[in-house]
Amino acid sequence: TVKQDLAGVNLLISAGPTVEEIDPVRYLTNHSSGKMGYALAQKAADRGANVTLVSGPTQLSKPSGVAVIDIISAKELQQKVKEKFEQNDVVIMAAAVSDFHVKQIAKQKIKKNGQSMHLDLVANPDILADLGHIKTHQKLVGFAAETQNLIENGNKKLVKKNLDMLVLNDVSRKDIGFNAADNEVRLLRPKKEPKLIAKTSKDKIADEILDELTSL
Ligand code: PMT
Repeated sequence: TVKQDLAGVNLLISAGPTVEEIDPVRYLTNHSSGKMGYALAQKAADRGANVTLVSGPTQLSKPSGVAVIDIISAKELQQKVKEKFEQNDVVIMAAAVSDFHVKQIAKQKIKKNGQSMHLDLVANPDILADLGHIKTHQKLVGFAAETQNLIENGNKKLVKKNLDMLVLNDVSRKDIGFNAADNEVRLLRPKKEPKLIAKTSKDKIADEILDELTSL
């Protein structure tokens, strides 16, 4: 039997990639498989939390005992997360959100015209930073996918997005991070030393993140 230490906690989790359409054939996305966010959703539900999972397109089966909302683009993710924000106690943004969308989605397939092509990209809203600035009772947890200067870049995001915790991922490694079964992360918290969670399964990482949350 699993300890029910999250009983009564309303928890909103985002997971997976976002997809930004270019034309009827093409799109922009990233390597997120959704595994990390789905592991968190399943473990939190197992521990008694009322979990809502907002998910980008993934190949995974839905976690059990979790309310799942499917989204495609960052804009849709933003709408759903904002709608659910007030009623949740904890929000964990594990989704790999596209930083840009295409200015004008082409209605027809874009034809090849010469040797190069330009896409006009416009910044997406930073969903997590927006939540950080309107949060009241909520605990806010972000993820960061970094390839260099990990701690420095992670700490900047922790402060800029006004987070209670940031889960730092090294996505330059093939054996952890994107799409891997395992992960290794550092937990960054305001005014505390980074805490390393050494390489293990994403399920175990999820439990450790939730343990840390209960101590916040
Ligand atoms: O899905 P897996 O294959 O299991 O891989 C897991 C993971 C590596 C994708 C995941 O653990 C992870 O690191 N997710 C965050 C990826 C990301 O978008 O990182 P970022 O450093 O670009 O963004 C920082 C934080 O801001 C994230 O919490 C992100 O959800 C959020 N964000 C980013 C951009 C944006 N426009 N809006 C946001 O809310």
